[in-house]
This record gives sequence, structure tokens and C-alpha cells, in this order.
Amino acid sequence: MVVVTDPDSIEFVIRKAMNNGGKGPNLDIVDQVSNDNHLPHSIATQEVEKWKKTRPLVNVLLHPSLINNLSPRISSIAQEWVMKIQELGRKQGDGSWVLPNMKSALNLYTMENIIALSLGKRFGLTTPKKQVPEDAQQYINDVEEMVARISSALLSSNTLYKYVKTPSYRKLEQATKSAMNYARRIRQGQMITPLETLDDGLQNLATVYTDLAKKNGLSEDDILAVDIGVVVSGVDTTSAMCMVVLYELAINPSLQEELYQELCTVMNVKSGPLPPIQPHQLKQLTTLKNFVKDAIRKSPSAALNMRKLFEDVEIQGYHIPKNTEIILNNFGVNRDEKYFENPLQVDPHRFDKETKVNEYSMLMFGLGERACPGKRVAMAEVYMLVANVVYEYHLQCDAKDYELKGPGLLVPQVNETNQIKFVSRESK
Ligand code: HEM
Repeated sequence: MVVVTDPDSIEFVIRKAMNNGGKGPNLDIVDQVSNDNHLPHSIATQEVEKWKKTRPLVNVLLHPSLINNLSPRISSIAQEWVMKIQELGRKQGDGSWVLPNMKSALNLYTMENIIALSLGKRFGLTTPKKQVPEDAQQYINDVEEMVARISSALLSSNTLYKYVKTPSYRKLEQATKSAMNYARRIRQGQMITPLETLDDGLQNLATVYTDLAKKNGLSEDDILAVDIGVVVSGVDTTSAMCMVVLYELAINPSLQEELYQELCTVMNVKSGPLPPIQPHQLKQLTTLKNFVKDAIRKSPSAALNMRKLFEDVEIQGYHIPKNTEIILNNFGVNRDEKYFENPLQVDPHRFDKETKVNEYSMLMFGLGERACPGKRVAMAEVYMLVANVVYEYHLQCDAKDYELKGPGLLVPQVNETNQIKFVSRESK
């Protein structure tokens, strides 16, 4: 294994990996489950020819018009989540609220968004006082199990599952089959408990895929596998990023005020509920968006990327044999003074000054042909969450900074002294 921590070497590796589809993380377990069970391959597949057929489906997520259309919906879901903080939280003596498990609470928000996008349905995870239907809950549990198993596979080079069906392999297999069954039932309108169908005129992804899939010779089950891949990829990653950004806000009260003022001006409101943010309004929230960009630069929840090259190469004078796992150390670059002045300081105006940021020094969504197709969706979710949170609450945190913890996705380490307190603006 080799770790590279400078933008030039990162660029070299990403460019070399173009056209080979090679990724190199330890994701073979996902292919093993598909092959053993005659299931279609996930978008995470290492089988390059299979990946090439399905990647065009997820590329639709990158279409700017999709995000424009989705913005008001994401904004409404963010507003619901903010309204649910008191239901999910614990009231403190001073009248503020804390979320005892902030990451799980944020998963409700990101899951609800992805379900709406992929299935055109609402599970009601962010709806106040709503009980989630049992079969929908099972799907959520399956997705969470898949995320947990895939994340631990990513961090390990243990391939025992190739020879013996390990408990971890069995869990991934069971969850994958169960999620496929539920997605199939939804598609065929056969859920045990009917769900609210969104009537905002947007097509769900499964429908969009159907047309594309025909061209690529993909089956109905291939579409479901891609769809589940999108859900699995988009929940924990985005909630981790939301959590980082809320912590950054909490330790920067003056920034909260700057964002609040910008929001009130752009939306032309100061009281009453925040209307759903429209795409042209989101465009004008430049300080908010630049704040988020710099917060995730300082604390990229996906700290590392991986690639495998199928030829010998030389990097910085070192000979790297083919098939070596190459770790692209995004986190290291993002916090290096050589590339970012005062790197631990989050400054929404950094990008006004440093207009020429090298794209290979900002790798939180990866780059190249296997880069994250969900990055625009994820960013829209984070922007909308921040806007709705700062509109309703002041965030307080006794600590001056936060530590990040892994393994896998990095999230702020929460302890007794640095819990975020949500203080309602109305109570001030
Ligand atoms: C903040 C949230 C997110 C982060 C930090 C993130 C990060 C990443 C990264 C680092 C990769 C690998 C890129 C590479 O190797 O070059 C990736 C792949 C992927 N992401 Fe995301 N992601 C996020 C949200 C999402 C969302 C919301 C979706 C779906 C709507 C999504 C769908 C995917 C898919 C399908 C892949 C696999 C692409 C492929 O292998 O061709 N991600 N993501």
C-alpha cells in the first residue's frame, strides 16, 4: 500500500486510473455476494465491463437541472427535520436542546431525501410524530447493514469470505437480498404498507433509469441494484458531512449571524416559516455555500480515496508495482499549509481570495471516472440543512474546535463538553 499526499501525485494517479475503471478499495465482497446469489452487480462493482454499463445511469444525478428541480423538495425536508429536533432531542435546563445521537438523527434526514429521490416515496422519517411502516423500517435496517458491512470491508484486507461464508459476509448477503426484495415490491406497487407518493411532478430515479437502461441492455433487476447502490452510498456519507458542518457552525457564532443575515435578505423573510428555497435563491446564498465548501475542506468526512493501477509506475521517484493499493490522502492535503493558508480556520471568503484552488487538492467526492455522482445532491442537502437550521436556531458549543474520529467516515467526536446546543431564535 502506498499513500500519496500532494496534489501533483494525486493528479498523476487519477489520470492513470482513467479508462481502467479500477478503484482498488476492498470491495470484492460486494461482487462475491452478487455472483454467489445470481444478483445483478452493484455500482460499486470491480468488474469494469459491468460497471461501464451501469455508470451512465448514476451520471443523471450530476445533471444541474435535476438539482434545480430537487431544491425546493430538499429544502422542505430540511425544514421538517429542523421542526423535529425537539422530538428527537433532550431539553436542557437552560431551555436549549441537544441531540443525544446527532449522527443517527441526521441519518433520518439524508435517508428521507434519498428515498424520495430514488423511489418517489416518503417514508416519513422527518415527519413529526410519524411512525415508519414496518416493511419500510426493514428496508432502512437492510441499507444500514449494507453500509456497515461495506464500510468494514473497505477498511480491511481480510478476504476469508472467499473461502468460508463469514458472519459478516452472511449479513451483507442477507441484507442485500432483503433490500432487493423490498425495492422490487415498491416498484411493483406491492408494499405491505402503502407509502405517501410525492406529487411534486418530479420523476423518481427508477423511472428515469428505465429509459436509459433499455439503451444499455440492462434488466429491471439491474436498475434495482443501481438504485440500492445509490441509497447505500448517499445516506451515511451525507449525514457525516452535515454533522461536520453543524459543528463548524456551532464553534463560529459570528458566521452563523452572517449566514442568517444573508438568508433573510435573499429570502426576504425574518419571521414565520422559511419558504422552500428555490434554485435562483440558492444561487444567491454565496456565503452559505462557500462556508460549507470550506468546512468540508477542513474536515472531509471521506478523508481518503483509493485507486489501483494495472501497470508499474513511478511516483516521486519511487517505483510502484502494478496492483498496489494507492491511497489518495485528501485529508492530509486539505490541512496542509502548502496548499491552504491557515488550514484549520474555516473562512467562507477563502474562495474569493484563492480563486485558483487546484482541483486535485479538493478530493472529498473523488475525481475521475469513478468520482461521486451524488456530489451535487449531497451538497444541496447540506446547504438546505444549514439554511433551515440557522433560520430557526442559534447553535452553541462550549468547545473551540472538535476532534474527528473514524474509522471510515470521519465525524466529530462528541463528549460531554462539546455537545451542540440548539437554542431557538424565538426564545432569545
Ligand atoms: C457528502 C456526501 C458524500 C460524500 C463525501 C461522497 C463521497 C464519495 C466518494 C469519495 C466516492 C468515491 C469516488 C472516487 O473513488 O473517485 C463516492 C462514490 C459514489 N457515491 Fe458518493 N459521496 C457522498 C454522497 C453521495 C450521494 C448523496 C450519492 C447518491 C445520491 C452518492 C453516490 C455515490 C455512488 C453511486 C458512488 C460510486 C460511483 C462509482 O463507483 O462509479 N454519494 N462518493
